[in-house]
Amino acid sequence: MIVNADMVTRISIVKARELAFEGDDICVVIPVYYRKHPLAEKILAEEDAATLRTLSEKNIITGRRKSYYYIPAPSREYKGILVLGLGDYEDCDAEAMRRTMGVAVDVFRRNHIRHVYLDMRFYDNLPIEAFVESINLGQYHFDTYKEPEEENAPVAVSEITVIVDNAADTEAIGKACQRAALVSLAANGARHFANTASNDMKPETFAQAAYQIANMEDSCCTCTVLEESHMAELGMNALLGVARGGEFPPKLVFLKYRHPEASRTVALVGKGVTFDSGGISLKPAGKMHEMKFDMCGAAAVLCTLMAVSHLKPAINVIGVIPAVTNMPDGRAQTPGDIVRAYNGKTIEVLNTDAEGRLILADALAYTVDTYKPNIIVDIATLTGAAVVALGHVAAAVLGTNEYVIDELLAAGKATGEILWPLPLWKDYERMMEGDFADLSNIGPEREAGTITGAAFLKAFVGDTPWAHLDIAGTAYGVKNKPYLKSKYATGFGVRLFTHWLLGLAENG
Ligand code: BES
Ligand code: ZN
Ligand code: ZN
Repeated sequence: MIVNADMVTRISIVKARELAFEGDDICVVIPVYYRKHPLAEKILAEEDAATLRTLSEKNIITGRRKSYYYIPAPSREYKGILVLGLGDYEDCDAEAMRRTMGVAVDVFRRNHIRHVYLDMRFYDNLPIEAFVESINLGQYHFDTYKEPEEENAPVAVSEITVIVDNAADTEAIGKACQRAALVSLAANGARHFANTASNDMKPETFAQAAYQIANMEDSCCTCTVLEESHMAELGMNALLGVARGGEFPPKLVFLKYRHPEASRTVALVGKGVTFDSGGISLKPAGKMHEMKFDMCGAAAVLCTLMAVSHLKPAINVIGVIPAVTNMPDGRAQTPGDIVRAYNGKTIEVLNTDAEGRLILADALAYTVDTYKPNIIVDIATLTGAAVVALGHVAAAVLGTNEYVIDELLAAGKATGEILWPLPLWKDYERMMEGDFADLSNIGPEREAGTITGAAFLKAFVGDTPWAHLDIAGTAYGVKNKPYLKSKYATGFGVRLFTHWLLGLAENG
């Protein structure tokens, strides 16, 4: 896997009666609801349990959401105790747990904790896996380009032992926790690709990574890559037009996961602009460096396939990555150019900075034509307007199939990768008609930019049930989630897609 070392590599589930502390650098985590007393008896030394009771009675430990109280315990088998506030019982859902544990990760790091014993004896009904997930997401850091600091080299939690009630189903809890660890690792993989500087992330990098995943032992994936010349023969001029100004050749990457009992095929298409300068319609300099993140959709698709190839759900999944750079150059496409896309439609390129929809157009049309998936979903940092509409809190979802949209909304809720629907009425499609070609690649300025972007894409999916996620706001710059450091990309989409696909596979 293509991630750094800060990850949980061992998870065990033990029944309370079998508990024994083993190893060093242990922190015992005691969750507590708001205004309830921490129940630590039989886990901690009796004096420590009594201390917690006293602190709680004196209202020093409150159980308020995201509050915590750390007690060093140098003379015990454990190094410290962390009481973690879960907030009100009624509001304690998976996302609340992720955010709470996100805060705890900093405490673990400061206190050099490597092994977390999580006392869930009284919380078997909670989605324990959310805690596991947020430890992996929370302690992810990106240090590819930094000298490691020898003295205060960061320590990560590499082992979690979940203590459950004697009557709990350890196998089911273990399975859910292992899966959460794997999926959060895949999400960190996507974050890693996105954080990597654009001089090290080229279209070719996606092709190589896809081959690597396909070549992993027991991956059930195959990989094919369409090269520039082949795309030219196929008439993918919308994609090729974007790539013209760039030095690095475009790639159209397909990573196909197959399951022998699958009855359905889902295609996931991710925008992979490894740098978006805007092209001849050049972007202002201020935030241009952020456009290294313009491949977050592609990274999400790639790493979803990585997770899927490990988890092996009974569904076929095709990951599709149109990968290009969008650069100005003497040969670059210019505003007013007209290109004919793979499906024969002509497009007037009025703004070369609306390039995501151009590369997706060919990728979508070719994928529905060639693979005939039952559902196609694209994910893209497509419009600044999505940030205006929803901030960094939710991604926009639009599409042609209510059922698919509802399922994606539900997966978003379950994973904390929240989506919010926008309408896609015919009136918006009319706004994308061109004066000189079938379509224009931009709509009227400052009007419903996220919707018109989606309306454009709709012209390339035919009758295949389709949904589009605009993740311009949620792919990076997210500040409201303690388990995601705001300077890093979020990996948005990996957890959502994986959850959705596993559900689809289970429900036939
Ligand atoms: N990659 C950008 C969208 C974007 C903007 C992502 C800000 C993340 C943060 C996209 O290619 C773009 O430039 N879109 C234009 C479209 C417009 C010209 C119709 C935009 O949003 O301004
Ligand atoms: Zn752009
Ligand atoms: Zn872009």
